[in-house]
Amino acid sequence: MTERHDAVEVVVTKRDGGVLSDAQIDWVVDAYTRGVVADEQMSALAMAILLNGMTRGEISRWTAAMIASGERMDFSGLSRPTADKHSTGGVGDKITLPLAPLVAACGVAVPQLSGRGLGHTGGTLDKLEAIPGWRADLGNEEILAQLEDVGAVVCAAGSGLAPADKKLYSLRDVTGTVESIPLIASSIMSKKIAEGTGALVLDVKVGSGAFMKHVGAARELAETMVALGTDAGVTTVALLTDMSTPLGRTAGNGLEVAESVDVLAGGGPADVVDLTLALAREMLRGAGVDDVDPADRLADGSAMDVWRRMVRAQGGDPDAPMPAAKETHTVRAESDGVLTRLDAMAVGLAAWRLGAGRARKEDPVQAAAGVVMHAKPGDRVTAGQDLLTLHTDEPERFERALDALDGGVEVAADDTSYTPVPLVIDRVAG
Ligand code: URA
Repeated sequence: MTERHDAVEVVVTKRDGGVLSDAQIDWVVDAYTRGVVADEQMSALAMAILLNGMTRGEISRWTAAMIASGERMDFSGLSRPTADKHSTGGVGDKITLPLAPLVAACGVAVPQLSGRGLGHTGGTLDKLEAIPGWRADLGNEEILAQLEDVGAVVCAAGSGLAPADKKLYSLRDVTGTVESIPLIASSIMSKKIAEGTGALVLDVKVGSGAFMKHVGAARELAETMVALGTDAGVTTVALLTDMSTPLGRTAGNGLEVAESVDVLAGGGPADVVDLTLALAREMLRGAGVDDVDPADRLADGSAMDVWRRMVRAQGGDPDAPMPAAKETHTVRAESDGVLTRLDAMAVGLAAWRLGAGRARKEDPVQAAAGVVMHAKPGDRVTAGQDLLTLHTDEPERFERALDALDGGVEVAADDTSYTPVPLVIDRVAG
């Protein structure tokens, strides 16, 4: 057991810009998990960390303490290497759905322990739960068996992984302390390292629909996470990718599943296909597999085969049609020109207000709610053409969704005010 400390002394050290000792970090994380340090004391410490930062050494120790608060999974007995991907969250980010079966079809097992959405970004589990019968909660034995048999599993992270983070994340959510790079990096990496993956690819989103609005902050977060992973023996790489506009042409649970199935069938929007392939190549490289081109596995249908087995293994029906919304509302172009802006945050908020997301973690989500985008930035449009279709089961939600889109969609006479942003902005390796 760690030596005893006093919560106030730890808070004061950080409040005054000091560096926390290993013993202080070990004690405060453990004592908070056990309920010995009170929420108000941890809130003060989180705010002091947000304001004064942490050294790399402190972040590394904090992450280790959060990992030590719970269990660690062990995939070393599997017959193939493992690789996982984590996205910091974006609008229309359904990449996990085609990516996990694609990488499995290339011979690497993908243990993707995921969360539900909060706020304007969707959660992978919410999307998959739009498939009739699909089950997110699996025990550790089921996870291992599915990884060996099917090669990919996307399921809820059990409560045993980094319980300190679960408690701290809920507290940060209600105390204005989410946006701290040391706290975000240690939160994400404690769960991923405890999960036991051999290789990890981080998709760090940048832009209006992301946590990190600017490339500089995103790069700092990426570098911090890559260093944490590398130090823990996990081969870790990060891609900084654009989230100024939504990914693909759909935002909303069932709508995104349908789009992912299109990608697995060899179609789908180019940005979703390109990012899926870019992340798949990084995962394969991290796992030491360099003789398979994931584009071939997408084209020959083997990724689709793994998807169908993966859905079935978790009780879902891969042939069931996605639920359809009871009501739709179409937004049309008012003039001829070029779509110069389709803001990720605006579309994410609209989808959320239509019922695709939740305000509190216990809220239900609508499987069919969301936004379909008929044009993307840079496309020419004509007056009266459909730009967006809003989907919901509750028509009283349209008004607030349309408010969210106000100012987020712009058509200009020509493309002089439109600057395309590359999908993959940068790569950060250890
Ligand atoms: N996702 C996490 O898991 N933790 C954070 O702190 C932010 C995003």
